[in-house]
Amino acid sequence: MAEPKLTCSRVGLAFVLATLVLLAGPQQADATHAPVVKSSAKNAYATMLYMGTPRDYEFYVAARVMLQSLARLKVDADLVVIASSAVPIKWRRNFLKDGIRLVIVEDIQNPYRNQPDFDMRFMFTLNKIYAWTLTDYERVVMLDVDNLFLQKADELFQCGEFCAAFINPCIFHTGLFVLEPSNETFNAMLSDIQSGRENRDGADQGFLTAHFSDLLDKPLFHPPTNGTKLKGIYRLPLGYQMDASYYYLKLKWSVPCGPNSVVTFPSVPMLKPWYWWAYPVLPLGLSWHEQRRHTIGYGSELPLMAAEALFYIITMIVAMIVRQRVLTTDRPPLIKSCLGRGPCSIESGSIVQPFLLKVAAIFAIIASFAIPFVLVPTTAHPLMGWALWLLGSQSLLIVTINIFQLPVLPVLTPWLGFFGVLLVMAAPIYSNGIIRALAIFGYAFLASPLLWWMLTQVSASIDLAFAREPLMAYANMRKKEMIEEW
Ligand SMILES: *[C@@H]1O[C@H](CO)[C@@H](O)[C@H](O)[C@H]1NC(C)=O
Ligand SMILES: *[C@@H]1O[C@H](CO)[C@@H](O)[C@H](O)[C@H]1NC(C)=O
Repeated sequence: MAEPKLTCSRVGLAFVLATLVLLAGPQQADATHAPVVKSSAKNAYATMLYMGTPRDYEFYVAARVMLQSLARLKVDADLVVIASSAVPIKWRRNFLKDGIRLVIVEDIQNPYRNQPDFDMRFMFTLNKIYAWTLTDYERVVMLDVDNLFLQKADELFQCGEFCAAFINPCIFHTGLFVLEPSNETFNAMLSDIQSGRENRDGADQGFLTAHFSDLLDKPLFHPPTNGTKLKGIYRLPLGYQMDASYYYLKLKWSVPCGPNSVVTFPSVPMLKPWYWWAYPVLPLGLSWHEQRRHTIGYGSELPLMAAEALFYIITMIVAMIVRQRVLTTDRPPLIKSCLGRGPCSIESGSIVQPFLLKVAAIFAIIASFAIPFVLVPTTAHPLMGWALWLLGSQSLLIVTINIFQLPVLPVLTPWLGFFGVLLVMAAPIYSNGIIRALAIFGYAFLASPLLWWMLTQVSASIDLAFAREPLMAYANMRKKEMIEEW
């Protein structure tokens, strides 16, 4: 009697399971698309994220792009973010969605914060030593977020207990290093930090270079072809940390003794490759954005940029309509400089007023470039960022032209100049960085007289307005009188 019942419930169970599998189907496909969170990988690529710098968001974006580009290279390792407990839940959730393992840590308090020349953005960089606590892994490659992988570099996991590259002749760089996790090492480092052991920059770089002060004398890492893991400490070839500045000089990679695998961007924080303005000032920015385009995309910036573009377009159209109407009627300018009205022009000396107006006009022109610049989201794609900036500045320039009744071409000259310099910088025709620098210099040299011309034109048009206005006022008065007489 129990037998059919059992079969029945089995069939029922199977049906429920089948339905679940069917429903879960698409999600499972998603899950297989992303790497599994908890895996049995022997090694890991790790990076860290902490809060409290003005650029937290940019670092978060850069971390996602770097880790996803590693996933796209199909690396044979886990991807880990050592996140400070202050990292927002939403960001953490996005990392998990990307298939990244999160390790939440408490910030290591920085005992060097009162040291002279301490840079506040390094406040929690000492969190990097948490990499040694990832004892689930045999080796960890610890990365700063400004690494651009040109190819897979899994052979790094064959390196020893500690391996790093010298991009400077005698101080190794801590933007990428290999380590063998060990609680012992971590505890020793932590007590060194807490006792305030000497540290040049108060950051991870100063701490680790002091801790592994003998790295320069160690042998160079050559991955064994039989795949075994090395013991000991090694220097990494420069090809694992190619300083982007080399590229800017040669406009190609020519690091002879290395794998040419990883690019790093150590200098000038404001020109990190994720900022839209970094390209074409520095040509490598576009390669970084190519990786972003293929990984997390630009969904988070696009709505705001579309709204800004719409606003600029509407402003421009309204400004043009207003301008047409002003030109076709002989009404006085929008800003009444109180000229031509007897008492006013006597009160304020006739020299100060045009001068102030000129200063205001120049200021408005500069603001027309500056305001759209700061409104573009910092991590936009360079092509979209520059396009939006050009649109925004043109729209505000037209408003400025209207308000101050300025001549059109001179005011748009700097705009054309900026557009030109972007083209000159981005042109893919230079054989090396020096030729490119000379071309930009030559362009600036040729363009500067035009800037001067613009200033004199703006100035002259304001002078003209001042000279003309008493006449206009007189004409208006006459007109009124005539109307009254009539
Ligand atoms: C290192 O320490 C962590 C936390 O204290 C512990 O979970 C882990 O098992 C330790 N690893 C080893 C290899 O002892
Ligand atoms: C692998 O190669 C290294 C030298 O590159 C050698 O020392 C080691 O014994 C080899 N290991 C195996 C398992 O063959």
